[in-house]
Amino acid sequence: MKKILITGGAGYIGSHTAVELINAGFDPIVLDDLSNSDEKVLDRLEEISGRKLTFYKGDCNDRILLDQISFEHELAGVIHFAAFKAVGESTQFPLKYYKNNLGSLLVLLEFMKDQGIKDLVFSSSCTVYGQPDQLPVTESTPRKEAESPYGNTKKVCEDILVDYVKSKPGIRVISLRYFNPVGAHPSSKIGELPLGVPNNLVPYITQTAAGIRKKLTVFGDDYDTPDGTCIRDFIHVMDLADAHVKAFSFLNHQEMDYYDVFNVGTGKGNTVLEVIQAFEKVNDLKLNYEIGPRREGDIEKIWADTKKINEELGWYSKYSLEDSMRDSWNWQKTLGN
Ligand code: NAD
Ligand code: UD1
Repeated sequence: MKKILITGGAGYIGSHTAVELINAGFDPIVLDDLSNSDEKVLDRLEEISGRKLTFYKGDCNDRILLDQISFEHELAGVIHFAAFKAVGESTQFPLKYYKNNLGSLLVLLEFMKDQGIKDLVFSSSCTVYGQPDQLPVTESTPRKEAESPYGNTKKVCEDILVDYVKSKPGIRVISLRYFNPVGAHPSSKIGELPLGVPNNLVPYITQTAAGIRKKLTVFGDDYDTPDGTCIRDFIHVMDLADAHVKAFSFLNHQEMDYYDVFNVGTGKGNTVLEVIQAFEKVNDLKLNYEIGPRREGDIEKIWADTKKINEELGWYSKYSLEDSMRDSWNWQKTLGN
């Protein structure tokens, strides 16, 4: 069984990817410092997969630890999820974000070079597109200036990877540009664990339905969209996890010094009000919400062109928005209020 190091593997997307990697016959080795996750996730992963997982609690900037992991396991590659991701916090503490998000990539690349590890999948984001001039966005749509230090870390990490692969170090890399990840594992054993008041739409919806928040505010209904609310491409986290399995398997068949980027979205945009309606319908409940002013820095509309990932990686999204809303709510119910 090929062993793959998953940095940030106890987090939201990493944990779901660990499940899908196991289902595909890989052996994920999880490295996480638990700065934004809970050790219980590891037990849950074992319940879902019916097997023990190798877990290292530590920082993926820690080169000594990385060398130890590589000594103990023959690694076929790395999927690098570990990063800080709170956009608002990144504007307050930019150095914290640059240090962790850029630093960890640099340490990992040096580690991979020294240990002869060839394959890397990197977590990027549709945030690199800003508000695109044309929709849907393809991978060749020009990137825009980042709106936040967090967004900039994704852009700079992509640039680092491009420059590094150009220097012919003998590696193969894919950056996956995620659109808006939502949903949870259908077993409701793992899901997103937002700390404090959520900024993202779906955790805010589920916490409002659970009574943790009084009311959801829809940020603006005067945008140039069919119902006036913003449009996003909401991708179920299980589909996103599957994209990592496909990306990793694809890398194995490429020549050395390969680099490419792929959008991971459904290819369909939904408005904020459509998301609320889907949530209400599939879960048969009413959500307390009101229309409020626009949120500063919000992008009006974005959704992915998925032709490239469909054709080259053979990946297609399978889950609907309704599936995402059902799974997000089932997960929220396990958290209590
Ligand atoms: P998450 O916070 O749930 O998971 C990240 C994990 O990395 C956490 O478990 C955290 O404890 C760990 N971590 C952070 N720094 C670490 C370090 N130095 N060493 C070891 N572990 C560390 O976030 P997520 O939503 O699963 O996101 C995963 C990746 O995808 C991130 O790189 C994020 O920027 C990117 N991304 C996320 C979204 C999203 O909306 N969730 C969208 C686009 C891109
Ligand atoms: C956020 C991040 C972005 C990241 C993306 C995908 C910010 C500023 N940006 O963007 O970097 O790449 O997630 O994970 O955080 N909404 C409401 N009410 C709420 C919350 C959200 O109406 O309480 C609306 C927003 O205005 C937006 C939509 O819902 O139109 C989605 O918001 P959110 O979940 O925060 O994601 P993004 O704005 O796409």
